[in-house]
Amino acid sequence: MSHPLFDLFGRVAMVSGGASGMGRQMALGFAEAGADIVLADLNLPGAKVTATEIETMGRRALAIECNVSDVEQIRSMYRTIDDEFGRIDIVGNVAGEGAVGRPEELAVETLQDVLQNLVLGRFTSCQEAGRRMLKQGKGSIINFGSIGGWNSLGRGHTPYGMAMSAGIQMTRELSTEWASRGVRVNTILPAQVWNEGLRKRVAAVPELIDTFLGGIPMGRLGEPEEIKGPAIFLASDASSFVTGAILPMDGGNLALNAGGTYPGSPRAYA
Ligand SMILES: NC(=O)c1ccc[n+]([C@@H]2O[C@H](COP(=O)([O-])OP(=O)(O)OC[C@H]3O[C@@H](n4cnc5c(N)ncnc54)[C@H](O)[C@@H]3O)[C@@H](O)[C@H]2O)c1
Repeated sequence: MSHPLFDLFGRVAMVSGGASGMGRQMALGFAEAGADIVLADLNLPGAKVTATEIETMGRRALAIECNVSDVEQIRSMYRTIDDEFGRIDIVGNVAGEGAVGRPEELAVETLQDVLQNLVLGRFTSCQEAGRRMLKQGKGSIINFGSIGGWNSLGRGHTPYGMAMSAGIQMTRELSTEWASRGVRVNTILPAQVWNEGLRKRVAAVPELIDTFLGGIPMGRLGEPEEIKGPAIFLASDASSFVTGAILPMDGGNLALNAGGTYPGSPRAYA
């Protein structure tokens, strides 16, 4: 039997990126814990597949086509949530995309697109959710970050790292502004977690896998379903005194110094 502190029954959660990967798994996890779910994604057919799976659990689910770079589409999605559910208790801002490019060659417009998606889009979702949650006197927002927003990944990740880092500070600012009024805001920082894009990159450059594993003391990459535990914890009353937290979900990556190794590391020689 699960502990009642993790019960999300009667709550409404919006998860962006709910068509695949960690967004999909977060949405399924919230539904398993009892919540009704709104899935926002560019990929509407994919979001509908997740919605159908949630409905078979006996929960309500609504898939909405929404580009999280587009401020007006985000606002319109929250108006739909008002009409369909009349409340919002949990938000998982998961969908987001970076772009790669060496800083000396990067088009400023590329940086602008990434900031629009990961900073302005995320802020708009937090603002829309926060306004509603403040009226309710309760709510939990989970922003997705990345280990690449904490320290540098290199390999042309300047736009992604800058944007993810801004998201971390946004979480600190919003949590401070809203904590005394019942709204909690936290961030999860994943290390490399398997998804379709990552499989393609590793297939194209097989040496990458040793680079990733060299930084993860657990000696493996993450699986998308491993988001469920941290997400349910942060969404639920189990974390009622937790806000402004930056929670790594990284197999130990951020604890390891870039010059360090661990037993079994591909780079261990001593
Ligand atoms: N997988 C990793 O290794 C990793 C590590 C750290 C951070 N992250 C971040 O976590 C998030 C999700 O990663 P994932 O592995 O689950 O990815 P994924 O590729 O499996 O899923 C991303 C989902 O977001 C949707 N999406 C993309 N752009 C969108 C947009 N503009 N508007 C609406 N929906 C959009 C896609 O259609 C897809 O369903 C991303 O922000 C990513 O940067 C991923």
